[in-house]
Amino acid sequence: MKKYKIAVIKGDGIGPEIIDEAIKVLDAVSAGSEYEFEYNEYLMGGDAYDITGDPLPDETVVGCKESDAVLFGAIGGEKWDNLPRDKRPESGLLRLREQLELYANFRPVKVYDELIDASSLKKEVIEGVDLLVMRELTGGIYFGKPRQKNEDSAFNTMIYTKDEVVRIAKMAFEAALKRDKKVCSVDKANVLEVSQFWRDVVIEVAKGYPEVTLTHMYVDNAAMQLVRDPKQFDVILTGNIFGDILSDEASMISGSIGLLPSASVGGSVGLYEPIHGSAPDIAGQGIANPIATISSASLMLRFAFGEEKAADKIDRAITKLLDEGYRTKDISSYGAKEVCSTTEIGSIIADYVSKG
Ligand code: IPM
Ligand code: MN
Repeated sequence: MKKYKIAVIKGDGIGPEIIDEAIKVLDAVSAGSEYEFEYNEYLMGGDAYDITGDPLPDETVVGCKESDAVLFGAIGGEKWDNLPRDKRPESGLLRLREQLELYANFRPVKVYDELIDASSLKKEVIEGVDLLVMRELTGGIYFGKPRQKNEDSAFNTMIYTKDEVVRIAKMAFEAALKRDKKVCSVDKANVLEVSQFWRDVVIEVAKGYPEVTLTHMYVDNAAMQLVRDPKQFDVILTGNIFGDILSDEASMISGSIGLLPSASVGGSVGLYEPIHGSAPDIAGQGIANPIATISSASLMLRFAFGEEKAADKIDRAITKLLDEGYRTKDISSYGAKEVCSTTEIGSIIADYVSKG
C-alpha cells in the first residue's frame, strides 16, 4: 500500500483544534483507498518555544524534510509578543519557509455562492470571483540584509535577485496557463528600484509564455482595484510583503478569513496551511472554523500527492456542508440552519467524504 508521510504541526491557539478536524477528514479520504497516511507531529511556534526554548527546534526541520508534505495549523499569541525577534513564534515559521525553500505561496480566493452575503462587498462585485495570489515567500524585505534597530533609527532591506524573481514569475505563468491565462504583476516601480527590477525581470520571463497576458499594477492601485472590481484578476504575482498585505485583503472577498487555504511550495516538501492566524481569543472554545485547514489538506492532496479525486471529494463535501446550512459561529449570520462546533463541522465533512 502506498504511504504518504505527513509532518503535522498543530502550533498555537486554535491550531490544534483545526488540525484535528483536517486529520479526521484525511482519515475519511484514505479509508478504503489504495494509500494510507502516516502522521508525525512536530513542534513549532510559541508552544515549541515554551517547551524547547526555540520556536523551530532542529527536530522539526529534520522531520519536515523527511516527510512528503507538511500540514500546519497556526502560530503566535500575545503571550510571546515581547520576546526577542528570533524567539518569537513567527520567526519559527519564517525560518521553516527558508529551510524548506518554500519560495512560492499560492493563496487562492474563491467565493462560495452559499456564503455570498457574508462578504462586506456587494454581491454583484464578488459573484464568481476566482483569483490566485502568488506571493514570493523567501525573499524581499522579510529576509533582506542588512537589518537593524537601535535607539535612534532602524532599517530593513528590500532586495530581490534575478533568480528569485525568475523562479516565482515562472510559477505564476505556469499557474496562469492552467487558469484564465492572465498575470497581473504588482509592484511599486514608480518609487522603488527593487520594484523596477522586479518588473523588468517579469517582462523578460513573460517572453517564454506568449499565451499568457501580462499586466502590471502599482500596489496601492492593486489594493484599491481588489475591492473595486476583484473579477478583473486571475493570477496576481507579487513580492513577499505586498503579497502578505494583499492576500489578507483578498481573503475578505470570500466573507471570512476562516475559509481560505494556502500552499507554500518550491523546495522538495510543500507546506499547507490556512491563511488565518492562531486566534488566541477563541482558542479552546470549540468555535473555530476548520474549513480553511480542511481545504488546505485538499490542496496538499492535489499538489503534493497528485490525488486529484480525493481532493475533489473534500472540496465537494465542503460545498455540500455549506449548502446544507451547517455553519461555525463566524459565518452563522449567513444562511445557517444549524450553528455547529469545530468538531461537528469536521465530522460532517468527513461523513460526506466517506459517502461521496
Ligand atoms: C502569513 C503571516 C506570516 C507572514 C507571519 C505570521 C510571519 O502573516 O503567513 O501571511 O507575515 O508571512
Ligand atoms: Mn499575513
